[in-house]
Amino acid sequence: MRAATPSLPPGPFDVVYADPPWRYDWSIGEVKSVDAHYPTMSLEEICTLPIRQIAAPRSVLFLWVPGPKNREAFLVIDAWGFDYKSQIVWDKQHQGGGWWSRARHELLLIATRGDAPTPQPQSIRPPSVLMYPRSSVHSQKPPQVRDLIRRLTRRWAHSYIELFARGRPPKGWVFWGRDAVGTPGDGGRPWSYIYSRDDARRLRAGGESWRGILRTLRLPPRALSSVRWACRGVRKPPLHGGAEREDAGFCTGADA
Ligand SMILES: C[S@@+](CC[C@H](N)C(=O)[O-])C[C@H]1O[C@@H](n2cnc3c(N)ncnc32)[C@H](O)[C@@H]1O
Repeated sequence: MRAATPSLPPGPFDVVYADPPWRYDWSIGEVKSVDAHYPTMSLEEICTLPIRQIAAPRSVLFLWVPGPKNREAFLVIDAWGFDYKSQIVWDKQHQGGGWWSRARHELLLIATRGDAPTPQPQSIRPPSVLMYPRSSVHSQKPPQVRDLIRRLTRRWAHSYIELFARGRPPKGWVFWGRDAVGTPGDGGRPWSYIYSRDDARRLRAGGESWRGILRTLRLPPRALSSVRWACRGVRKPPLHGGAEREDAGFCTGADA
């Protein structure tokens, strides 16, 4: 089964976290096929996503890959413009299915672009095997991994995107994917709204101009109406006690 691929937000993102819907051609039609749970993508479709364009020149990729797709994962890393660095094993503490071995783990590959620094101090680096219980939801990854990623990159990273995400993004993340709230075309709020809301309010309350907020949050001009909507009620302090010109009404934004 195939799904329409939504367009990607422009970035640039310092951290790209991805859990692709790998297609198992040899399993289509079998009861345990992943296609029974969600649409899948061919290797070519995954590789040709414009991740090179949305990843910052200095960025890090965290990529989930199940055992049978290890070879393909390295092709994806190359196609997206990253260099493989290391990996973490997720021990699900539960024996699943499998054709040659019964899978109990999945790999989280780590790859970098440019001079993305290793996590400092050394004491924050996690063990290479993490034990988190398997979720009852098919393919759902442990939410603790997002916190781990933020901890490892917080010294230098500001923008985080999760590709092929499901549901509503936690604070500080942009979610993109067919089942993500906030992805254009999903009927939910546009990505720009989710991306900017909290930070935009803080910046606005601190006296930042609309243009400054867009620049700081790395949002395109078309996100302005969402940002203004998100900041409704937040007053920019008047400059030198003078009248506030920019706040003469706010835009409700067709996309808000
Ligand atoms: C492996 S699951 C991701 C699970 C997720 N990491 C979690 O923890 O819940 C892959 C997701 O990619 C979505 N997907 C499938 N085809 C897609 C496409 N063409 N574009 C965007 N997302 C797609 C699926 O619907 C599914 O939600």
